Amino acid sequence: MRVLGIETSCDETGVAVYDSEQGLLAQALHSQVARHAEYGGVVPELASRDHLAKLAPMVEQVLKAADTRAEALDAIAYTAGPGLVGALLVGACYATGLARALDKPAIPVHHMEAHLLAPMLEADAPDYPFVALLVSGGHSMLVDVAAVGRYEVIGTTLDDAAGEAFDKTAKLLGLPYPGGPALSALAEQGTATRFALPRPMLNRPGLDFSFSGLKTAVLMVVRELQGVAGDQPPRPGATLSDQDRADVAASFQAAIVETLTRKCERALEQTGRERLVVAGGVGANSALRAALAQACDRRGARVYYPRPEYCTDNGAMIALAGVLRAESGGRGLPIGAAPRWPLGTPLPERRKRVA
Ligand code: KG4
Ligand code: ZN
Repeated sequence: MRVLGIETSCDETGVAVYDSEQGLLAQALHSQVARHAEYGGVVPELASRDHLAKLAPMVEQVLKAADTRAEALDAIAYTAGPGLVGALLVGACYATGLARALDKPAIPVHHMEAHLLAPMLEADAPDYPFVALLVSGGHSMLVDVAAVGRYEVIGTTLDDAAGEAFDKTAKLLGLPYPGGPALSALAEQGTATRFALPRPMLNRPGLDFSFSGLKTAVLMVVRELQGVAGDQPPRPGATLSDQDRADVAASFQAAIVETLTRKCERALEQTGRERLVVAGGVGANSALRAALAQACDRRGARVYYPRPEYCTDNGAMIALAGVLRAESGGRGLPIGAAPRWPLGTPLPERRKRVA
């Protein structure tokens, strides 16, 4: 089976062709990071327009690189949610239109399901069952994965996502958007023990996360270093020395890494699973990778990651999720997109969708 995958949920246009026998045949990725950088975050309307401009030529380019005619595809998979509604609709309308023209099925893919299946793109893919830690800019969750399509969300964030916490802290330190990779590079120059930051939710039972308290604690530290009064706004990066910024970055990263690692250990213990899959943009963080590898080693468990470019948004994971879904009987031809769509549930009814 050969599937075209289309990702347009946020600020990356991703297109790929995956073949169940031959693996990934071709892929292309266009990042809009430069377009949004001057605004310090993703501007939804600009994102939709850029997807619209890039998608059709990218599909043409990928089909050519895969040496595949559109008629030879078995299905078109697209990210149907969750994400920015306008951005989702560009991909949904294009994919379902193409599917209708070709008289092939369109497969709506859950963006977080695609993230958690991304390690299956690798030669050394995990067997089921496993626990997945999904940590991206919009989501932080722990999922017990029994098999393709059998997901139980066992922990989630009560406020900010892990990537969001990285991005906001980075902004506070005057680092460019998106802040995660920049903050993690800066952290390497710093001393993680200089500031005692909270390890959110570790003293409470359960697998949920909360990062807003950590964000506030970092803000207090930065204000103090800047000598800014309590009722004044902080000045991003302004009066901090390079060493101060690096030490804040390192202390913040250590707090978030320890929190995520302990929650993963708890999730493995609670479910009795022996495999941990880490996916989503924050999964590219090397300190997190090292800590999880150590924690899993201690328990005799194994940790699996997709390579960094499959951790962040891409078309390959959507094409692969489409193949795995279709093979397990999950076809359908809904048109539309659901900006809110709980993992492990069917695509919401049309009245709850936007089209
Ligand atoms: O999965 P993703 O590409 O997009 C979403 O679906 O959100 O994740 C993007 C997030 C951003 O918040 C970005 O700052 C973060 O992942 N990120 C990182 C790293 N690389 C990307 N955070 C920490 N360390 C990194 N190396
Ligand atoms: Zn994502």
